Amino acid sequence: PEPGWTTRADVVVIGSGIAGLTAALRIHAADRSLKLLVVTKDVLNAGSTQWAQGGIAAALGPGDTPEQHLTDTLVAGAGACDVDAVRVLVTEGPDAVRELIALGTEFDHHDGELSLTREGGHHRDRIAHAGGDATGAEIQRSLIAAVERAPEIEVIQHALAVDLLPAADGGVAGVTLHVLGEGQRDGVGAAHCRAIVLASGGLGQVFSQSTNPSVSTGDGMAVALRAGATLRDLEFVQFHPTVMYLGPDSQGQQPLISEAVRGEGAFLVDFEGNRFMQGQHELADLAPRDVVAKAITRRMLETGRAHMWLDARHLGAEFWGRRFPTILAVCREHGVDPVTELIPVAPAQHYASGGVATDLDGRSGVPGLYATGEVACSGVHGANRLASNSLLEGLVFSRRIAQVLPGELRPWAEPVDDRRPAGLVDWSARPDLQATMTTRVGVLRSAEGIGEALAWLGAQPTDNPTDDPTVPGVDGWETTNLHVISTALAAAALRREETRGSHWREDFPERDDRTQAGHIDTRLVDGRL
Ligand code: SIN
Repeated sequence: PEPGWTTRADVVVIGSGIAGLTAALRIHAADRSLKLLVVTKDVLNAGSTQWAQGGIAAALGPGDTPEQHLTDTLVAGAGACDVDAVRVLVTEGPDAVRELIALGTEFDHHDGELSLTREGGHHRDRIAHAGGDATGAEIQRSLIAAVERAPEIEVIQHALAVDLLPAADGGVAGVTLHVLGEGQRDGVGAAHCRAIVLASGGLGQVFSQSTNPSVSTGDGMAVALRAGATLRDLEFVQFHPTVMYLGPDSQGQQPLISEAVRGEGAFLVDFEGNRFMQGQHELADLAPRDVVAKAITRRMLETGRAHMWLDARHLGAEFWGRRFPTILAVCREHGVDPVTELIPVAPAQHYASGGVATDLDGRSGVPGLYATGEVACSGVHGANRLASNSLLEGLVFSRRIAQVLPGELRPWAEPVDDRRPAGLVDWSARPDLQATMTTRVGVLRSAEGIGEALAWLGAQPTDNPTDDPTVPGVDGWETTNLHVISTALAAAALRREETRGSHWREDFPERDDRTQAGHIDTRLVDGRL
C-alpha cells in the first residue's frame, strides 16, 4: 500500500533501549536545531534493556584498568574481536557510565562507593548494578525520564520499521513505518529523514527459548540487509548458561538467572550433586559464558537430562531479598524457592554478537545509516560477548555516533523507491521456524543439521501479498524478517567450519586460526543472500 501519512525529521532513531535513547539524547544535546524522531515497535521500555539484570561493566573499581577490561573482553571474544573497537569500549566506558549517573541512573552503592560485582570471564569486580538485579529497568527509567524532559524529541510508539527508503545515491532517505493506532498516524506511513540510527536490538525470537522479549525479531538487521548493509558474524549467537528451565513445552521469553548470582557464590551441580565446572576452567563457575553453556550442554547430553541445577541456597534469605529481589520473585512465581531449593537451569538464546557491520563511529557503510547496540556488529564482542558489555556497547557507540552525525548530515533527498519485500512469509510459520533453528542451528551445530534448517527455510512460501488487508501486518513483517535473518544466520553458521566462542560445530570441534580467523559477512546481491 502507498503510505497513508508522511512525516519529516532530520534524524530518525529506530529503537528505544539504552542505545536508541542515548543516541537521541546525545544528538539532541549536540545540535538542538535538529528535528529528532524516535520510533519504537512497542512501548518505550519493551525492549531488552529493560530486562538486563547483572549490570554494566566498566573499569571503575580500585586497581582495575581499561587494559584489564580489554584483556578479559578479548579472551571471551575468542580471537574474533576488533581490538580497536574494544579499546574504544573500555577506555570510553568509565566516562560513559559516569555520564549515565549524572543523567539520573541510580546504581547500587556500598559504604558510599559504587557497588561493583563480578560475572563470568571478568578477573575484577567491575559490574555496576541497580536495584540489586534490576539494572536495565533503572537505566531505562532514567533514559525515558530524560527524553520526557526534552519534548523536542518526538516519539512514536507501536511503530514497526518495515523498510528503509532509499535516496537516488543508495543512501537512506527515510523509513516506512507500520503504526498501530497512534492518533493520526495509523497504518502504513513514512518518515522522511537525512539520517537513521538503527538501535532496534537483537534476534532472540529466531529461537524457541530466549531471554529476549517478544519484540526481538531481528527487524533492524533485516531492514539494513535490504538497504544494502553488510551483516557480520551472525553465527555468533550467545546462549546464556543459566536460564530457568520451565519444562519442554515452554516457549518464548524465559527467566534469566543472572551470572551475578554465580558472581556472588552460587554454583552449578548435576543430578548427582557434582560441581561439574570445577576443573574445566581456572574460573570454574565463572568461566566465560560459552565455556559454561557448553559444559552444561555436555553434561545434559551425557546424562540424558533436560537441565542442570544452580545451587544458591547458601546465599540465605536476607541476601537473596536484598541483592536479587527480581530473580527471587520470578523463581517463586514458578514454584521454586532458591533459598531452600536448587534452581533448574539450561542454556537458552541470549544475545546476538553479530549484526550490522559498523566502523568505530557506528557508520554502516550505507550513506546516512548508523547502527548501535545489539543490532550492530561494532567488533567488540567477537565470537562471544563478555558479560555486561552489551549495555556498555550501546552507551559508548551511541555517544560516538552523536559526536560525528550532526557534522556529516546529508542534504535532504526524496526517497526514490520502496524496498519492502514483494511477499511475506505467513506469520503462522513462526513456531516451526523457531523449532527448526533451535534444534538445527542452536547450541550444538553440524553441517547436516544446518543443511536441514536451510532446506526447511528455503521451502517456505514467501509470496503472501503485502497489500492484503486480511494479512495481520506486524506479525507478517516480523515473521518475514525472522525468515531472512534465520537464513542468513544458518548460512553463516555453515560457512564457519570451526568451533570458536559461542559457535560450536560438532563436525569441526577445534578452533582453526589458520583458515577461519576472519569475519563472515552477508549481503544481498540482486535480492538474494
Ligand atoms: C546476566 O546478568 O547474567 C546477563 C548479563 C549479560 O548478558 O551481560
